Amino acid sequence: MKENDRASSGRSGWGFLFFLAGFAGALAFGWLVFPELLYSEKSQPVNFSHALPDHQGSGCEDCHAFREDGSFTGIPRVAKCMECHESPLTESPDEKRLVEEYIQKEKEIPWLVHAYQPDNVHFAHAPHKARGMECTQCHRDVSKETKTPVFRENRLTGYSRSTMKMDQCEKCHAEQGASNNCEICHK
Ligand code: HEC
Ligand code: HEC
Ligand code: HEC
Ligand code: HEC
Ligand code: HEC
Repeated sequence: MKENDRASSGRSGWGFLFFLAGFAGALAFGWLVFPELLYSEKSQPVNFSHALPDHQGSGCEDCHAFREDGSFTGIPRVAKCMECHESPLTESPDEKRLVEEYIQKEKEIPWLVHAYQPDNVHFAHAPHKARGMECTQCHRDVSKETKTPVFRENRLTGYSRSTMKMDQCEKCHAEQGASNNCEICHK
């Protein structure tokens, strides 16, 4: 009788271990694997190195300018690249693609933008620029990037993984005395 008891408690001990292993596996799937499956990885149509001395212009605003009315021009058009890349300067396959696929065909480059917010969010650079903010307060530091990082797109929503989240916008707004009324950011 005693022997039997010991044997069955031994078996349920193993059962518990299997349960734990399964449980840990499910957690790992939910936490680690599933979020990865949710994103597809894309790379830029043409690599652009901010770090090249030839790509620094007279500063960031040489390519990312603000218009008279304060609005932001965003990413430069292909005409900017054409100023120097009318024909290839290097052996780089990216530059070959730039020249043949975009400059010669007069097509704009469909850049992937890590920062783009969902359509229901309103954002403008102007009021932030007026407060003298650095680009790196909201963006990754691109200045030493020789290769743009992989773009991770949410398969369900189509949005970039690296957009600024609502709590980050609100945290700074609270700290700097800017409004956190919903209508400020959601029109
Ligand atoms: C010669 C033109 C040029 C200059 C000068 C330049 N950029 Fe860019 N920038 C680009 C192009 C083209 C892209 C799109 C490709 C990419 O993401 O790298 C870009 C993308 C970016 C992005 C990424 C936006 C996103 O969310 O994906 C940031 C941030 C940025 N630039 C900041 C800067 C800063 C800060 C400087 C100055 C240190 C600067 N740029 C100077 C051409 C330029
Ligand atoms: C002021 C001139 C100038 C402008 C404007 C310019 N480039 Fe360049 N770019 C160069 C020079 C010079 C080189 C090659 C020399 C070097 O490697 O420093 C180069 C190299 C490259 C290369 C090859 C190196 C690599 O990283 O693979 C690519 C691709 C490239 N540029 C893309 C672009 C794109 C896209 C734009 C427009 C957003 C652009 N360039 C605008 C001058 C320029
Ligand atoms: C207060 C935060 C903040 C600051 C400061 C800021 N950005 Fe942005 N930037 C954003 C957000 C948010 C977006 C996405 C906007 C959208 O979804 O339309 C963006 C978009 C961009 C883009 C994408 C292209 C486009 O059409 O708008 C570029 C390039 C860019 N920013 C460059 C810069 C540069 C260069 C600076 C510094 C002069 C800067 N940003 C300062 C938050 C910021
Ligand atoms: C690093 C600090 C900081 C971050 C991050 C930031 N903001 Fe702001 N924002 C400000 C400040 C400060 C003002 C107030 C400017 C003023 O009124 O002079 C402002 C103003 C604004 C305005 C204009 C308000 C008006 O009265 O017209 C909008 C819209 C806005 N922010 C949206 C956003 C969104 C969306 C994000 C996140 C994607 C964001 N901001 C992230 C600091 C920030
Ligand atoms: C300072 C800017 C800002 C303010 C103020 C703000 N939001 Fe947002 N909100 C965002 C941004 C940016 C996103 C998209 C990124 C994200 O999902 O976090 C967002 C996303 C959302 C979403 C989509 C669901 C989600 O969480 O992804 C809802 C719902 C929402 N906001 C409701 C509100 C309500 C309600 C208020 C007022 C109490 C508010 N927001 C105020 C910036 C703001």
